[in-house]
Amino acid sequence: ACGEETRSYCCRLGELKRAPRCHVELEPLTFSRTHNVFVDVNEFRNKKKIKPQHGHHVWHKDFVKLPSSPECHFTKTGFVSNSEVVRWQEVSKQLENLAKKTSASVADVEKAIKKYNPKYEDQWSFDALHTFVQMAPKEENYYSSVFPKIAKLASSLPKLIQKAIPLLQKGQTRSITLSQEQIACLLANAFYCTFPHRNSQSPRAEFHNYPTINFNSLFGKWSEKKREKLRAILHYFHTVTNQATRPTGLVTFERRYIRDQDFPNWRSAQEKLSKLYISSDGCIEEVGTGMLQVDFANSMIGGGVLGYGLVQEEILFLMNPELIISRLFTERLEDNECLYITGCQQFSKYGGYGDTFEWAGPHTDDIARDEWLRLHRQIVAIDALDFRHKREQYNMRQITRELNKAYCGFKPDDNTPSDYIPDISTGSWGCGAFNGDPKLKALIQLMAAAKVQRNVAFFTFSNVGLEKDLNNMYNLLVSHKTTVGKLYELLGDYCAEMRTNGTHIDLFVWIRNALELRSQL
Ligand code: AR6
Repeated sequence: ACGEETRSYCCRLGELKRAPRCHVELEPLTFSRTHNVFVDVNEFRNKKKIKPQHGHHVWHKDFVKLPSSPECHFTKTGFVSNSEVVRWQEVSKQLENLAKKTSASVADVEKAIKKYNPKYEDQWSFDALHTFVQMAPKEENYYSSVFPKIAKLASSLPKLIQKAIPLLQKGQTRSITLSQEQIACLLANAFYCTFPHRNSQSPRAEFHNYPTINFNSLFGKWSEKKREKLRAILHYFHTVTNQATRPTGLVTFERRYIRDQDFPNWRSAQEKLSKLYISSDGCIEEVGTGMLQVDFANSMIGGGVLGYGLVQEEILFLMNPELIISRLFTERLEDNECLYITGCQQFSKYGGYGDTFEWAGPHTDDIARDEWLRLHRQIVAIDALDFRHKREQYNMRQITRELNKAYCGFKPDDNTPSDYIPDISTGSWGCGAFNGDPKLKALIQLMAAAKVQRNVAFFTFSNVGLEKDLNNMYNLLVSHKTTVGKLYELLGDYCAEMRTNGTHIDLFVWIRNALELRSQL
């Protein structure tokens, strides 16, 4: 796949490291002050059994407000603390009624949800779910039998989650490990819109800095995109509510935070570029299996997965719906933070992209599991800057922010030996919905990867021109032995020239000229 230069420095795919081949045996599963584990670690270690960990619930600003909490009260107008009825009584009554049926209509689902969300009775529309079920082809129409099963799963919340779930708040490095069954149960509650305090979008709302989690936005405003989203989501529930196919492992969600003083001094960084594999064929998640896969995220994790959005992050979340539960507890990511998700399962395949996206059927995930029964799939969510005007990005403040964000995402654990760190699978991060310059963003990611000494597989997603240009640029930088610090300086000069020169100059053309001019001096 390499272009014009006489010699290509790009590597072959086989040279890159991936799990499970590249994996250090984990210490036995245990919890700590910063790692909350929701399964009983003794049972897990001694008998390999997955049982909920006992504990206590708290109704507090630092924890998820669970619908099953006795502090969650309910009045005709919504949920208010200290009023008459415990809300779970009403919620569980509705869920159990549904669960008893062998088949439930969308009208039944809507009625139940509105019973314990009376405030939204006139606001929430279920037209997309209605149309979806009406139009579903006969051979696919298992939906009316899956609604009761989702209700049953949702009603098992008090049994499956027996202690408070901490929020992954800003400024923290902290993780949560849940079983896939617990995640399914939480997602079933999201499907039935049971989470309290999560429906107001007002800037003064308690959870305004968190993504939405209740699925009501998925059920309204019919469109063909909604149809494909619902196919993926309902396929997930169909699989997890079936005894023969329900998943039986664990998943870890970890928020990572880097203090400002711990970011690299980019200007003085001496590292040379790491290995690069580049291709216009294939995509991050398929060819990059076992590497660290980059989620082109929104600072509100999952972006528009429950609404309109249908690009890289939303598709990833629909194929791997367990990722959606991160929306329950992950506060908006700050510039110096990222979210790691280890062990989530892929349930579906897709075709197309954006407007042409299609759910393409079930996926059997045959990835191996680690010692904590997590699938060897690691995803890192990093949110690029959203540029309204392309010009805004040619500025060292923005470039440094993006370098730091990528560095935060790519930096491995301090205690993993370097031979056991998988390489990175990425592509045009920040260059679709967020309007970034693919050439600039590719260099930024290469610089961050070089700083942490990880190699990169870069998928240009059918963009043959970018594949060729990036390949040539990489060859040039390697042949000039360009360091990260030197590249940082070049980017500074480029931005200065872009400021004084009214018109756009192509970054790669500019760097080539600059390097050639300097080597002649
Ligand atoms: N593998 C490789 N490349 C891909 C893949 C893939 N699976 N999918 C897409 N691309 P975009 P952003 C390429 O727009 O600009 C979401 O709503 C493709 O060329 O998803 O960072 C989030 O929630 C595409 O144009 O990322 C955020 O709100 C490019 O990657 C926002 O979008 C960028 O994909 C982030 O937007």
